[in-house]
Amino acid sequence: MKILMVCLGNICRSPLAHGILDHLAKKEGLDWTIESAGTGDWHIGQSPDQRSIAVAKKYEVDISQQRAKHFDSSLFAIYDHILVMDHQNYKDVLKQASTEDEKAKVALFLVDDVVPDPYFDERLFEPVYKMIESRCQELIQAWR
Ligand code: 4NP
Repeated sequence: MKILMVCLGNICRSPLAHGILDHLAKKEGLDWTIESAGTGDWHIGQSPDQRSIAVAKKYEVDISQQRAKHFDSSLFAIYDHILVMDHQNYKDVLKQASTEDEKAKVALFLVDDVVPDPYFDERLFEPVYKMIESRCQELIQAWR
């Protein structure tokens, strides 16, 4: 199973989804590949936001070695599932899909809800962590 987590900057939300699912999959002995990318290119090569690193560390998940990547259409061929954090991410990824098969790989990470962007609101990092962790547990159960 190959899963790509996508948000806007690839420094706050998708690094958490990437790190948490990778952590849980490894704990369960699952041979999954999990990565993340951003639809925006401002942060390419950077570490995750210090606030995401800190909240993950609090729950013993180390995301500090991740580096931001930019989403591009070559990634459709690599991943089975491309999970996006909000509706704008969904639009930005979907418009780069060229086949129905590629479109079918794209879904909202939370299915009927969005993961709010915590970048401008420090108080959101903790609830965002919790909602991402809970969904990652579900994904392990659903796709294992
Ligand atoms: P993310 O949050 O999409 O969860 O990584 C953001 C990070 C940076 C910016 C926007 C959102 N930015 O505008 O630089």
